[in-house]
Amino acid sequence: MSTVVVIGAQWGDEGKGKVTDFLAEKADMVVRYMGGNNAGHTVVVEDREFKMHLIPSGILYPDKMCIIGSGVVIDPAVLLKELESLEKQGISTANLRISQRAHVIFPYHQKLDQVEEERKGNNKIGTTCRGIGPAYTDKSARVGIRVIDLLDAEEFPALLEANIKSKNQILTEVYNGKSLDYGEVLNNFKGYAEALRKYVCDTSILVNDAVQQGQNIVFEGAQGTLLDLDHGTYPYVTSSHPTAAAACLGAGIGPTRIGRVIGVAKAYTTRVGEGPFPTELNDDTGALIRKQGGEYGTTTGRPRRCGWYDGVVGRYAVRINGLDYLAITKLDVLSGLETVRICTGYNYRGEVINEFPASLKVLNECVPVYEDFPGWSEDITKARKLEDLPVQARRYLDRISEISGAPIALIGVGSRRAQTILTADLYN
Ligand code: GDP
Ligand code: IMO
Ligand code: MG
Repeated sequence: MSTVVVIGAQWGDEGKGKVTDFLAEKADMVVRYMGGNNAGHTVVVEDREFKMHLIPSGILYPDKMCIIGSGVVIDPAVLLKELESLEKQGISTANLRISQRAHVIFPYHQKLDQVEEERKGNNKIGTTCRGIGPAYTDKSARVGIRVIDLLDAEEFPALLEANIKSKNQILTEVYNGKSLDYGEVLNNFKGYAEALRKYVCDTSILVNDAVQQGQNIVFEGAQGTLLDLDHGTYPYVTSSHPTAAAACLGAGIGPTRIGRVIGVAKAYTTRVGEGPFPTELNDDTGALIRKQGGEYGTTTGRPRRCGWYDGVVGRYAVRINGLDYLAITKLDVLSGLETVRICTGYNYRGEVINEFPASLKVLNECVPVYEDFPGWSEDITKARKLEDLPVQARRYLDRISEISGAPIALIGVGSRRAQTILTADLYN
């Protein structure tokens, strides 16, 4: 397997956690390399369900090294809670390592996320309000505080004081809000620093050493291609890079070290938050998919918007990420539908567009062109090989692969680890 990057090929929540967990069985190391606790990755192992926000899904195996890389923004309170919850469930967290260079989310980031969303009113992005955007903004503005700074008892108080001063000015004078208490934040974060110190190191060295030794590494992406700051439906995106190239930056390795890239997509499409979604179904079928798929956010509990598989998005994800393979999840959710549809292009003012447009104005006018397929009524949750699937389901998958332009390596027929059909040898 060597190094495999797992990314979201749609708008997030494609099942990256499950696919990472499945691949992790034969891996030595799992690396989260970007995003923060806006992510919610669900992994179901037998009867137990785990919801990860920051910790790599590999932690559920006792022997995998798990890395939180420099590209991740870390809310220490959330991370500590996640660690505690895993330990309580008997999962050892001794193999976790956190990058010294990762940036830290502070309470002013969450406050700013909230007030900025409120000010946008009808134009709000629908963020998770976890402070992700403001934390990445500070990183780019070169005023952020990194984990290494948080651990430095001499430097940290002054860095925090300067930040709280300027953020309080914005919160009170621009937004008429309340200011944050420096002493209280300082005390809390000094405590977090001590609790996290034992996990912190230069994780780039660990990852590069593992690559050098030929170990198997899974890079667990967060969010999805269409939420990418450069390539997504801007400004309705997150503030980092869910696309495959970010695995190098966020883990501290070079592009020559990446072996394969797998894009995870649902057999249909969902989106949570605002922004364009051409194949969205605002009807009974959309509601049925939401119900059958349990489409409610892992992080915020918000109902996810649901629609048909979008081949234009699929093709775009293959191009932007250089996908070797697709992993198609939640095929079981479509069982029982009389007809299933795939969008093959967009009709824009009478012309068919095959490539995902940059302009939201154009995108909002796009009407999907669909190909219809007969559905299947069988329960497919016990299928373990391609031949176990009804012929209609196989035809549907073949067409998804053809239209998107990448072979399918893995098919999800249920949320459990075992409910997976592997259709390509990902391990050599
Ligand atoms: P992620 O953010 O990409 O890791 O995805 P989420 O965990 O937010 O959402 C995916 C949801 O679908 C989770 O509840 C998973 O347990 C579930 N899931 C993943 N793969 C499958 C599948 O093949 N079938 C079904 N029915 N559920 C799945
Ligand atoms: P996983 O890793 C789905 C969405 C939010 C919002 C936009 C910006 O579980 O797939 P942010 O808080 O990042 O500033 O919000 O991005 N979003 C996600 N949607 N899955 C995610 O993560 C997401 N992370 C952020 O809903 O529309
Ligand atoms: Mg999720």
